[in-house]
Amino acid sequence: MDTKALFRISYGLYVVSAKKKDGEQNGFVGNTVFQITSKPPRLAIGVSRDNYTWEFIQDSKAVAISVLNQDVPPDTIKTFGYNSGRDIDKFADTPWRPADNGAPVLTEGINATLECSISQSVELETHTIFIGEVTNAEIVSDSAPLTYDYYHKVMKGKAPKNAPTFVEESTGKDDAVSAEGIMVCEVCGYEYDPAKGDPAKGIPPGTPFEDLPDDWECPVCGSPKTVFHPKT
Ligand SMILES: Cc1cc2nc3c(=O)[nH]c(=O)nc-3n(C[C@H](O)[C@H](O)[C@H](O)COP(=O)(O)O)c2cc1C
Repeated sequence: MDTKALFRISYGLYVVSAKKKDGEQNGFVGNTVFQITSKPPRLAIGVSRDNYTWEFIQDSKAVAISVLNQDVPPDTIKTFGYNSGRDIDKFADTPWRPADNGAPVLTEGINATLECSISQSVELETHTIFIGEVTNAEIVSDSAPLTYDYYHKVMKGKAPKNAPTFVEESTGKDDAVSAEGIMVCEVCGYEYDPAKGDPAKGIPPGTPFEDLPDDWECPVCGSPKTVFHPKT
């Protein structure tokens, strides 16, 4: 079986969000959002039971979906796809508005919003498929939607553990450092290149990985230095 064939399945990328009855709100980046019937319009949404947002969907039985654009700020992917609402308030620094069903939707980097009322769910080993009737849908802009293919090939993004498309890769921890000293983030696939440094954080070109400060973090997903391994 060639599991690489699974990568030939096309997806879009979305922020799936919900608001609990007590008012707390949260959301995550998801690629498993599909329309499965048209009469009535219904969506299926695949959610890891490890995702904090899973609890919000169970509680509210209502979901809002922000359809991401190709020009979505990378910080949005980092905040919603590589962090948990257990640790941060994801909407604190992200422009948003309440949708009609109360769940938060983004107001930047998106081209449409969809709202669903969850009526059924299917439990799989690690994920729940929530099935919801579309209760509202709005076009926000005509910008090109962000596809998983574009995210992989142009934005060089990877799938984290809770994404259904996650594939375990060798950590390569015992491998020799590549000649160029390039180090790869195990979580999101970002490559630290000493030749380029990390100018956004004041790290000049020519700085070897081992000379980065101990509290330096991956600029894409915020992971610590310890999760980096040599590029092989
Ligand atoms: C590109 C990408 C695709 C993802 N797709 C899914 C998905 O379809 N379903 C899912 O449960 N998690 C998916 N994730 C993982 C969640 O976004 C991630 O676990 C998030 O930190 C959960 O946040 P929460 O704990 O605040 O709910 C994806 C992440 C990325 C970056």
